[in-house]
Amino acid sequence: MSYYKIADLEQYFKHYKKSVREPRKFWSKIAEENFTWYQGWDKVFDFDFPKGEIKWFVNAKLNITKNCIDRHLSKRGDKTALIFEPNNPSEEAQRITYNELYIKVAKTANVLKSLGIKKGDRVCIYLPMIPELAISMLACARIGAIHSVIFAGFSDAAIRSRVEDCNAKLIITADGGFRGDKSIKIKEIVDKAIENVTSVEKVLVVKRTNEQVAFNPLRDVWFNDLYQDANDTNIAEIMDAEDPLFILYTSGSTGKPKGMVHTTAGYMVQTAYSFQNVFNYNDTDVFWCTADLGWITGHSYILYGALLNGATTVLFEGIPTFPNPSRYWDIIDKHKITHFYTAPTAIRSLMTADYSYVASHNLSSLRVLGSVGEPINEEAWHWFNDFIGKKRCPIVDTWWQTETGAILIAPIACVTPTKPTYATLPLPGVQAVLMDDKNNEIKGNQVMGSLCVKFPWPSIARTIWGDHERFVKTYFSDFPGTYFTGDNALRDEVGYYRITGRADDVVIVSGHNLGTAPIEDAINQHPAVAESAVVGFPHDIKGNALYGYISLKLEGTSRDKDNLKKEINQLIADHYGPIGKLDKIQFVTDLPKTRSGKILRRVLRSIALNQLDNFGDTSTMINPEVVKNIIANRL
Ligand code: WTA
Repeated sequence: MSYYKIADLEQYFKHYKKSVREPRKFWSKIAEENFTWYQGWDKVFDFDFPKGEIKWFVNAKLNITKNCIDRHLSKRGDKTALIFEPNNPSEEAQRITYNELYIKVAKTANVLKSLGIKKGDRVCIYLPMIPELAISMLACARIGAIHSVIFAGFSDAAIRSRVEDCNAKLIITADGGFRGDKSIKIKEIVDKAIENVTSVEKVLVVKRTNEQVAFNPLRDVWFNDLYQDANDTNIAEIMDAEDPLFILYTSGSTGKPKGMVHTTAGYMVQTAYSFQNVFNYNDTDVFWCTADLGWITGHSYILYGALLNGATTVLFEGIPTFPNPSRYWDIIDKHKITHFYTAPTAIRSLMTADYSYVASHNLSSLRVLGSVGEPINEEAWHWFNDFIGKKRCPIVDTWWQTETGAILIAPIACVTPTKPTYATLPLPGVQAVLMDDKNNEIKGNQVMGSLCVKFPWPSIARTIWGDHERFVKTYFSDFPGTYFTGDNALRDEVGYYRITGRADDVVIVSGHNLGTAPIEDAINQHPAVAESAVVGFPHDIKGNALYGYISLKLEGTSRDKDNLKKEINQLIADHYGPIGKLDKIQFVTDLPKTRSGKILRRVLRSIALNQLDNFGDTSTMINPEVVKNIIANRL
């Protein structure tokens, strides 16, 4: 393992150089020494970047769950794999060992098989953060079905578009879910989502709340009934390195979400490698990532990266403020958490709670802290460092994306000196570059530009499900010869990266990557609305919040504006999910547009930010008079 784990900064630079000069040797050694394969590869990689064609470990055969579970059984069978901390602290936590996880995954895999699910079939999973969510994902991977987890905060319309896009044959869901002091009718949402969706043959329902639910005997099946009688061994399906492992939807700049497709071997190798190194993971550690499994952070670091390393990983069903704002700190002390990986928005919200919630805790088990999902502001960084890490735990500010599969830029805990608000250095294998508008690489330090990566890495997404053209256009066209991240960044005097924000129409709200287009689509369904444009603006807790500029149809102009605002936010909650609700709604007479009718969001973004002195190039605007009006009435 010595080659795998980076021990000091000198070794980091050595590995980084090797990964650039000899990428084949670098990755094949890691892949060979640390995983179980049915058959090795003919070629380490093969790619044509401009065409978005990428393959890693060509023709190798494996099953990721053998690597996550089976190979640990002889040494770590009795070690806890998953700790489940329920929403309500009065409900007992569950500890699931690797031996038990094997049985649970095998049985669930057999349940899926009994429902006719085969290699290559798509299975959507809409479950709260309960063990069955992790187990279902692994069970799909076990039999070669492609899982697509839908975050349990999404609405029925958002579920429907995802289920239809990937033609899912099965949906795994629950009767309901607990969240804080609420109980959520999950099954009801799914029923509504898949009304008349013909691809869905069965709905597998896990019991969580035990509330009465509508049950369609022709379509719905109780998970627990089938599980009880299922066989507890399962021979893992032999998968090709490039067989899809999962689809995970992420926002794009059009209304339709992008189903990012991740394949098996490259994703496995890099999530495991990054987990080990970024978090300086040791065998006795207890790792807690507070993300939801429905996001990439959950996939890669609650589940796959952690289990591939034989780690103990925590699954938390609840929210940070229930029953009170000390819940995170309670859990850290209770389970002796060593690694706490969370989002800046959670830190900012807990910072505002009374300090006594933190002070009454020991927190001495903590060794490494992590941040993900959005830029962490300086104040939050220092609070996290001083009061949670007590200045003894490195903070790894990890930059990556659904598309990248694994962390690409981050400090290596205990190795890379950290710097507040900086994701610091690219990991070995990641050839990060900054590009200018003319597609030239900006060399040297103390520079800013568009963040791109000029060489493929093993865990990069391979395509957008059903739309490879969109994949090429979105990621490989703006800066030909590179992968464009959609982010802007700067590189400081020592080569550290700081991500400065998105370059496109994606807004990160409370760490959730939201596309403004589907939110606008929801708003535009209101009969009184003519048009809308949604942009982000800075928010103390959420990082960004949403500002909607909405023009009304003539018949809407006489409506009561407060009621209209409520109706519009309700529409967003119904069609997109409550996370997309607008904090500010400004009704406008018209939106600034180009000659070709494109809304000038850049101008609206500047107005929301109160940056009124320079709107950049507005020569293509046909209606500059509306801008004055919008500024005069800005909220
Ligand atoms: C942003 C989440 C600054 C960035 C893993 C990226 C960050 C988008 C950081 C991807 C960070 C993520 N510092 N910004 N440490 N991490 N981002 O796909 O804009 O949900 O492009 O993946 O989040 O969000 P996604």
